Amino acid sequence: MDDRYANIEKMYGVEKARLVYESHRKALDLIERNISDESMSCDFTRLDGFLFTGQNQSNKILDKELAVLRRIGYEGVEMLEELPLQGVPVKPCLSFHHQAQFHPLKYVNGLLLGIQKRGGGIFTHTRVKAIRDGAIVSVETNNGLTVNAGRVVLTTNSPIGGTLEIHTKQAAYRTYVIGASVPAHSIPLGLYWDTEDPYHYVRLQRLDNNDEYEVLLVGGEDHRTGIEPEHDCFERLESWAREWFIGFQEIMFKWSGQIYEPVDALAFIGRDPAHGENVFLASGNSGTGMTYGTMSGFILHDLILGRPNSFSELYDPARKTIEETAEFIKENVSGLVRYFDYATPGDVKSTDEIQPGHGAVIRKGLEKIACYKDEQGLCHEMSAVCPHMKGIVHWNEQEKTWDCPIHGSRFNATGSVINGPANTDLEPADSKVRTVEDTFDATPDPADTPAACNMCGNQQQTPLPHRGLPISGSSSSTSSETQNKQ
Ligand SMILES: Cc1cc2nc3c(=O)[nH]c(=O)nc-3n(C[C@H](O)[C@H](O)[C@H](O)COP(=O)(O)OP(=O)(O)OC[C@H]3O[C@@H](n4cnc5c(N)ncnc54)[C@H](O)[C@@H]3O)c2cc1C
Ligand code: FES
Repeated sequence: MDDRYANIEKMYGVEKARLVYESHRKALDLIERNISDESMSCDFTRLDGFLFTGQNQSNKILDKELAVLRRIGYEGVEMLEELPLQGVPVKPCLSFHHQAQFHPLKYVNGLLLGIQKRGGGIFTHTRVKAIRDGAIVSVETNNGLTVNAGRVVLTTNSPIGGTLEIHTKQAAYRTYVIGASVPAHSIPLGLYWDTEDPYHYVRLQRLDNNDEYEVLLVGGEDHRTGIEPEHDCFERLESWAREWFIGFQEIMFKWSGQIYEPVDALAFIGRDPAHGENVFLASGNSGTGMTYGTMSGFILHDLILGRPNSFSELYDPARKTIEETAEFIKENVSGLVRYFDYATPGDVKSTDEIQPGHGAVIRKGLEKIACYKDEQGLCHEMSAVCPHMKGIVHWNEQEKTWDCPIHGSRFNATGSVINGPANTDLEPADSKVRTVEDTFDATPDPADTPAACNMCGNQQQTPLPHRGLPISGSSSSTSSETQNKQ
């Protein structure tokens, strides 16, 4: 779980917190069974997880968590007096036994072979443009063909083709990872994560045919997509990792990914509230999409077959979010992520100020242009208006992408969409004039209508996710207590 059970219990009560635990446990066991049944070779290992507090944090966070874990009947957890790492301050940690680690791509490949063996087909390189409801659902594709199906499940990470319903209940984050060589066996095999905000998560990956080194994977430094921090996230990760893990040598890999954080800590799995009876979705996976993906399998399977499922209500995408969440949003979101970018000047005054290999937003009259100057000095000019719901994209210098701060859509340097919910590219700059008036006075497509947030009533904004939720009814952020990853 990305959230600690103390937060889950606070929001949902002890019985539902127990149900959350059971659903995750069941997903983990199912992954293990799939691997065994399909004889997959995907480095699956049962191992312990260790949760520890940051340098200046109170260990009471762990005491509180342990008390809740005991209440919900969590099996195999104990407080250790010392984190099993060498060369770090002695500090207690919670040890979770019987966790698991595996190579996700090898596992997904194993699933693929299992599907094909049973007559299923996987089709790639086809973009879904639109979904039409009905007794038979029609899925329109970018190659002009339409696929008809009795049931459709949307697993596009951020759902496409819907209304605001889900997008007001989750927020997009970038998360960063570095992989560094460490001497083999110098760090006890385990999953490590801390209680900082943003928090850090650590795994060890053994290398094939290499007994000398293994790779230490260190992730974290998450931030809202489209709101770039001033610091370098990779550098921050490296300095944190060097502090905690002796033997850290050369960085071999670095990458980043997109995760969607549900505002009330639980994923969305079930009927898509934006469509009719026969369209389902799985989203809001947070940083635990492998377990949530598996859970989606057994929940959606029952829903589609009309069978009862003990977890379906808990993860229902149409669920009303809890009162504390709505309060939190009202108090904390205003002014943070809005459409105010229309009124601001551009990042630079003219393309002359953009260096090759960089991008910037330029104001041309009332219009905002996203300009990327390639290595040869050629300017690629696109509308800076996000095709999803008309946010203004920001240049992401670290990843050379255009990111939308409203719901997290991302586009490559020349404007091709790479992350939803946008489902089309940035328009060429000269395709039409876009002004503030054009954007908000034009009659919008009903599917694009900026609706009031169904939790706080504010318009045209995305709530912050559950990180930072008040857990004691107070409005002050207790965000450092909310982040976990197993
Ligand atoms: C750094 C990092 C560490 C993580 N660690 C863990 C972990 O330890 N444990 C864990 O359980 N999870 C972890 N996760 C989370 C997990 O990897 C993700 O949640 C999961 O991959 C999301 O899966 P998904 O299938 O929902 O989305 P994706 O993997 O994003 O797949 C969505 C697919 O939909 C396709 N698509 C999008 N739009 C369209 C369209 N219009 N038409 C057709 N196709 C479309 C995309 O091309 C893509 O293939 C981590 C994630 C990151 C980034
Ligand atoms: S992602 Fe929704 S407006 Fe850009």
